[in-house]
Amino acid sequence: MRDYDLVVIGGGPGGYEAILYAAEKYGMRTALIEKEALGGTCLNHGCIPTKTLLHSADLYRQFMDCERFGLSAGQVSYDMEKIQARKSEVVNNLRSGIELLMKQKKVDVIKGTGCIIGPNEVEAKDFEGNVKKLETEHILIATGSCTSMPPIPGADLPGVYTSDTLLERKEEPFDHLLIIGGGVIGMEFASIYNSLGSKVTVLEAMPRIISNMDKELSQSLKMLMKKRGVAIITGAMVEKICSSESGEGILECTYKEKETVQSAKADGILVCTGRRPYTTGLFGEGFTLSMERGCIVTAENGETSVPGIYAIGDVTGGIMLAHAATAMGRNAVAHMNGAQPPVNLSVIPACIYTDPEIASVGLTADQAKELGIAAGSRKALMTANGKTVLSGQERGFIKVVFEKETKKLLGAQMMCARASDMISEFAQAITTGLTLDQMYSVIRPHPTFSEAITEACN
Ligand code: NAI
Repeated sequence: MRDYDLVVIGGGPGGYEAILYAAEKYGMRTALIEKEALGGTCLNHGCIPTKTLLHSADLYRQFMDCERFGLSAGQVSYDMEKIQARKSEVVNNLRSGIELLMKQKKVDVIKGTGCIIGPNEVEAKDFEGNVKKLETEHILIATGSCTSMPPIPGADLPGVYTSDTLLERKEEPFDHLLIIGGGVIGMEFASIYNSLGSKVTVLEAMPRIISNMDKELSQSLKMLMKKRGVAIITGAMVEKICSSESGEGILECTYKEKETVQSAKADGILVCTGRRPYTTGLFGEGFTLSMERGCIVTAENGETSVPGIYAIGDVTGGIMLAHAATAMGRNAVAHMNGAQPPVNLSVIPACIYTDPEIASVGLTADQAKELGIAAGSRKALMTANGKTVLSGQERGFIKVVFEKETKKLLGAQMMCARASDMISEFAQAITTGLTLDQMYSVIRPHPTFSEAITEACN
């Protein structure tokens, strides 16, 4: 008999959720190998810390603006060290919850790096160099992704940050933060630092920010950010960063905009131009799996080119989102046990935690058109929504995309308060094949933001 039924490498939301599911639902004997703290990028350097900082920054901005609600808050200020301390407290709190669950489900947690040396063999190496060989029926790779630094000269200068290093910065915010990359990470950090009072400039190579989302979301976010004072320069390809002669700690970033070379100075630069799958040290000598452009290739059930070895989440490329990794992990564990996939992986919502929030699921109108689907779209403006007006929210909208003939819902895009919560209603509707009329037939309470869903489906 082998030591384990399942060895998971990587303790992020893909790996730790999968192993809990395996232990709880199928009684599998499990071991989890993780080289850092449990929780992965999401808990330690991603979703949770950024959203905690965003929460503090948004509250601060709201305090500064409280007079329009008939309030006065006296001398409002913040302390970056205290904000960071709260962030660490939140992360530690959630991490101890995961550690406790691991104990309760009798998962052997091994601190160190995992290396696959054969179809059923993993070596776990701890930080003292001790190696333990584990024999297992199944292996699940959930090693995630890491920041991908573009080959921009000067990107290694002091004062240039990745999202990982910026999240740990305890000093007062920058006078001017320059953000290279107007994707999800770029826009969330733009929101944080703008709320905390820094001047913020975003340089984005593509013609629009958050370019993988609906065009109208990009335009609305750009307008809102500009209104708050964030400078957004699109079609701007960054070429180099160097120390500026204009002062100590000042960096100069050179970029090409419409064939013209421009430059901008800042005391902090964040590079967030994407992430890449993390497979460093994962395979022993002579062992390999089918890979494509650095990503592990898998079937829909998560199985790799070697039977019994599965991979899920960011390391497989595709949609790099925590909840997608969790869902893929559950399906992979079900497949190991000969069961049907419990989760529908074709409908994956995505959210951006700016204020107001942005959320999207299913097809955009443009994507439906590209697929040759005769689709229509409808939009409810939040300006007519009572809860939006009474809580002084920015303008926003909820848009639904549907198949013209059947009125079946194909997608939804929204920018409004609580969008990240409300998108689940659309995810459920698309997954279960609801039509606009069926969505409209549901009574939603008044006054709520969700009434705009009824309005959009009318
Ligand atoms: P991203 O791929 O979303 O955006 C990177 C942007 O950088 C792109 O728009 C690209 O055109 C631009 N870019 C690349 N090279 C450039 C250059 N030299 N000059 C100017 N612009 C350049 O990647 P991002 O924002 O780093 O996020 C990484 C991953 O993390 C994404 O897959 C994202 O979905 C995930 N994530 C999700 C979050 C959420 O769900 N709320 C939050 C944070 C990250």
